[in-house]
Amino acid sequence: MNELLLFATTLARETGAIVQGWQRRGITIETKSSTIDLVTEADRAADAQIVRAIRHHWPTHDLLTEEGGAEQRGSRWRWIVDPLDGTTNFAQAIPHYSISIALEKAGELQLGVVYDPVRDELFSALRGDGAWLDAPWGRVPLRVSRATALENAVVATGFPYDKATSERNNVAEFSRVVRRLRGIRRMGSAALDLAYVAAGRLDGYWEYALSPWDMAAGALLVREAGGVVHSVDGSAWSLQSPSILAANPAFAPTLRQALLGNG
Ligand code: IPD
Ligand code: CA
Ligand code: CA
Repeated sequence: MNELLLFATTLARETGAIVQGWQRRGITIETKSSTIDLVTEADRAADAQIVRAIRHHWPTHDLLTEEGGAEQRGSRWRWIVDPLDGTTNFAQAIPHYSISIALEKAGELQLGVVYDPVRDELFSALRGDGAWLDAPWGRVPLRVSRATALENAVVATGFPYDKATSERNNVAEFSRVVRRLRGIRRMGSAALDLAYVAAGRLDGYWEYALSPWDMAAGALLVREAGGVVHSVDGSAWSLQSPSILAANPAFAPTLRQALLGNG
């Protein structure tokens, strides 16, 4: 296996064990940007573990982690990490959260790993080499679904932490499509939502106001599984984009137009 991917998958599993340890012991919850934006000891411990490991093995690489921030070393390589994606679920003991680790080179995503420590499911992608799920029951390649119509599609989304004050709170888009879809989910981990699109478990996903660490690994998973990733308005997607829409190539335009009220 590619040395960098092996490092990232091992680190994601080790970090998952740390997170599960905190879940068993119990955690103290603090708030960040608002009363609904949470952080726990598990987020900080997971972040510290990942930063320590990257610094040890790849001391010259740049780094961006949710709890640790940016460390620039002038490298073409940059790790982009969400040590615990789905903190609200984690804090409520809802068993759906993940560790997300991505690596880019000169601004292009090279690998992505999203690990669900509850189900022991590891989703990974290597640029140009496809995407895989390693689960306790085996290893399978990831492939996006073939749904093309809204009434046959199950789609996930999320709402931003500033939803009470921001007009860009996704409520209008949600109301436009909720009646037209077979099903809609708000599962609470953007990284796993993207991994599930890659796995064909979800037919599509969209969200506004995410951060680079929420999207980086999952976006590569979707692309390597044959899906497309762009902004909700159809423009090209980047880690800085204010929105993301991911789906199979046939369904993405249908979902986009429905969200925007054009179709
Ligand atoms: C959050 C989750 C959630 C999404 C939020 C993210 P966090 O990440 O991915 O699904 O709706 O916008 O911020 O705070 O749990 O790492
Ligand atoms: Ca996150
Ligand atoms: Ca997080």
